[in-house]
Amino acid sequence: MQTMPALIIPSRGWLQAASPVDWYAEMRANAPVYFDEERNAYDVFSYEDVQRVLSDYANFSSQRQGEELTSQSIINMDPPKHMKYRQLVAQAFTPKAIDALAPRISEIAKELLDEVADQPEFDIIRDFSYPLPVIVIAEMLGVPNQDREKFKHWSDIVVKGVDFEAGETIEQNLALRHTVTQELGAYFAEVIQSRAIEPKNDLITALLAAEVDGEKLTVPELLGFAFLLLVAGNETTTNLIGNTMQSLLEHPEIWEHLVREPGLLPSAIEEGLRFRSPAQSMNRFTTQEVEIGGVVIPAGAEVIAWIGSANRDDAKFVKAEQFVIDRSPNPHIAFGNGPHFCLGAPLARLEGRIAMQALIERFPQMKLKQDAKLSIGLSPIVSGLKRLPVTI
Ligand code: HEM
Repeated sequence: MQTMPALIIPSRGWLQAASPVDWYAEMRANAPVYFDEERNAYDVFSYEDVQRVLSDYANFSSQRQGEELTSQSIINMDPPKHMKYRQLVAQAFTPKAIDALAPRISEIAKELLDEVADQPEFDIIRDFSYPLPVIVIAEMLGVPNQDREKFKHWSDIVVKGVDFEAGETIEQNLALRHTVTQELGAYFAEVIQSRAIEPKNDLITALLAAEVDGEKLTVPELLGFAFLLLVAGNETTTNLIGNTMQSLLEHPEIWEHLVREPGLLPSAIEEGLRFRSPAQSMNRFTTQEVEIGGVVIPAGAEVIAWIGSANRDDAKFVKAEQFVIDRSPNPHIAFGNGPHFCLGAPLARLEGRIAMQALIERFPQMKLKQDAKLSIGLSPIVSGLKRLPVTI
């Protein structure tokens, strides 16, 4: 049976800096490869080094211990095994299959905005960018309408960190996640079983049918992949929309520019991904002693590749600290780099584009609510606001 994911402990530098961006800048200047004794891990900050850690799998492995929840899934595998499984799941996750979701995503976005349209203000995160990807993924996985609330609750708990603000302890959080993981595992096991008997036009059915060299996914592998989609796809997409909207609304003249020229939306989204990257860091483990950025890292060490820092590196980006919606080129690595490049990137981009198009068309006069407290979540991996209140 599945067990819970490993707990993520933020670094002290991350917690103590006024903003992670200040910490990144300081580290890139003074200690671009840094050993954090407290977490017993190496932090890597420059664009060039982060890109290498993410893609050089011979030295920096994705095989993670103690994360059984998704241990059977591609994000925790190295080539050549990774390639075979990636090909399998990619068969069900083709750009064509994703594009076919566009009309339904537009409908969901419209329905969510209908619900808030007669109010003077609403919360972009709570009312829009949070429910949207959860509904999309639930529908892709074939979760029926009546189970959607239950599913939302489960997926929320699987991805959320310890809520210290609400007085939650680490032990309580682990216990809760353990229970929910068991429930979700049992739920999906049933869905998989029923699709095996009676195929439908959904992702689980497509995954059951996928085949590479005569081999198919096993049920635990399929379960691992379904979990991975929840963990990797929901909060990241919420934050893509939330973070990009935050950057736009903090500069009303940039928002107005985009409203006048909606053709800039795709490049504005790419800049949103760069400027406030939804996935701030990914880790790897060294397979042997390896030198990077002039520092020798021993074998078996954990290495944290700070994507959020790489995307603000002024050795790579002109005016890296500015939010430039028509930035070109924009070689950000918000979706990673190399063999693990985000499988869901076409879906995330599509959801982002449809969601923001709907906001532009519906509420072109939108403004950040005055005196709104924008409190940011504390996860060093998935970064975004908890609330983004706006007036319409
Ligand atoms: C992998 C970011 C949305 C599914 C990754 C990786 C990153 C990332 C950085 C690389 C992980 C690594 O190198 O270890 C993002 C961001 C998203 C997003 C920023 C939204 C803006 C999604 C969505 C899905 C998804 C919507 C699916 C529903 C995956 C999967 C992998 C992955 C399956 C593993 C690929 C592999 O290991 O080969 N994502 N992601 N992601 N993402 Fe996303």
